[in-house]
Amino acid sequence: MPREVESKLLIVDDLPENLMALDALIRGPGRRVYQATSAEKALALLLENEFALAIVDVQMPEMNGFELAELMRGTERTRHIPIIFVSAAGREMNYAFKGYESGAVDFLQKPLDAHVVTSKVSVFVDLHTHRKALAREMSALAESHRRQEALVEQLQQTQRELERAVRMRDDFMSMVSHELRTPLNTLYLETQVRKLHLSRNNLAPFSSERLPAMIERDQRHIQNMVRLIDDMLDVTRMRSGALSIQPKMFDLATLARCVVDGLAQQAEAAGSSIALSAPEPVEGVWDEFRIEQVLTNLLTNALRYGGGKPVEVSLETTGKEVEISVRDQGMGIDPADHERIFEQFERTDDSRKRAAGLGLGLFITRKIVQLHGGRITLESSVGEGSVFRVRLPLVPSAATDPVAPASGGG
Ligand SMILES: Nc1ncnc2c1ncn2[C@@H]1O[C@H](COP(=O)(O)OP(=O)(O)O)[C@@H](O)[C@H]1O
Ligand SMILES: [Mg+2]
Repeated sequence: MPREVESKLLIVDDLPENLMALDALIRGPGRRVYQATSAEKALALLLENEFALAIVDVQMPEMNGFELAELMRGTERTRHIPIIFVSAAGREMNYAFKGYESGAVDFLQKPLDAHVVTSKVSVFVDLHTHRKALAREMSALAESHRRQEALVEQLQQTQRELERAVRMRDDFMSMVSHELRTPLNTLYLETQVRKLHLSRNNLAPFSSERLPAMIERDQRHIQNMVRLIDDMLDVTRMRSGALSIQPKMFDLATLARCVVDGLAQQAEAAGSSIALSAPEPVEGVWDEFRIEQVLTNLLTNALRYGGGKPVEVSLETTGKEVEISVRDQGMGIDPADHERIFEQFERTDDSRKRAAGLGLGLFITRKIVQLHGGRITLESSVGEGSVFRVRLPLVPSAATDPVAPASGGG
């Protein structure tokens, strides 16, 4: 039996000499005896301590032992404490106290027989210690059960995540295959047609007027594939934390103009126009190649999802920051999707129906912006067009070793 459970014993008798005698009889290791010379004092002790047993003299002035027991039964805290009544009266008289849970009540007759007292007390103390130990085991069991359930929940969560990852990988494979297949198919068909022309000695399609457009088309398809593969490589680098930026000072307005010019054909194909508003040079220290990626991604999206309506890009400097905003008047984005679309492979159902895409652009864009110590925000709702705003510090705090432009000799 575990020794560390201390059993508190309460003895109640109006005569101090009785208390002393009883105390001497029942004290022992692992037990602590509390004495009360009246029912009132006993009640006070009962409320403060958790007793294994109360030994109560039946005949006491003011409140007698049975009345004390009645009160104990009426209180949750004391209801289950076993009681041994001590009385000089005959046995039948002792049964006058009824209704107290059977088994939790016993009787001792005066004069006390030392052997009977110690053995009865031992029975109750053992019972109490066992009950305590059991309760402790039960709560330990419940705790381990709780821990086990949490573990199972965690495992299920991991399994769900794994399943999602596998699903994502499969989706990804089929998307990539599809995205690569389209330009490859076109190129393949083109070569077939050219071969046919050559075999028939028909050189007209290769004339000096038509050749540049042909090469231009080929380049576009190849570029699309290169961009796709670059995006995938970027995502892999980002995952392993290997994507770094190499900031140098340059004029963002000039870069924006180049990007807009470069997208002229794509804009025309989409039936849109891109208007750039950059009133003055915007010099800052950023990774030019990566910022070009940001502009290209946002503008490509604006053309792709902009419903053939005009697209506006503007640059504005405010204090130590520049704000790039890209606004379209297209299908817009449900606010419920605003967070999600910045995650990899996430696209809205609407856009899935309208255009092919891997859902990597915004993920890469946000990462690049963050690497520059900036942030990207979105204002949009369905059917209302979208505004993507990128705020970049002119000198990124994240840039550890910005390379200043060569200062020339003079
Ligand atoms: N200008 C926009 N208008 C409407 N939806 C957009 C716009 N830009 C992005 N989205 C939504 O965000 C998704 C993720 O964009 P992105 O990461 O660039 O991937 P992708 O262009 O390959 O679909 C898009 O599929 C689309 O649902
Ligand atoms: Mg995109």
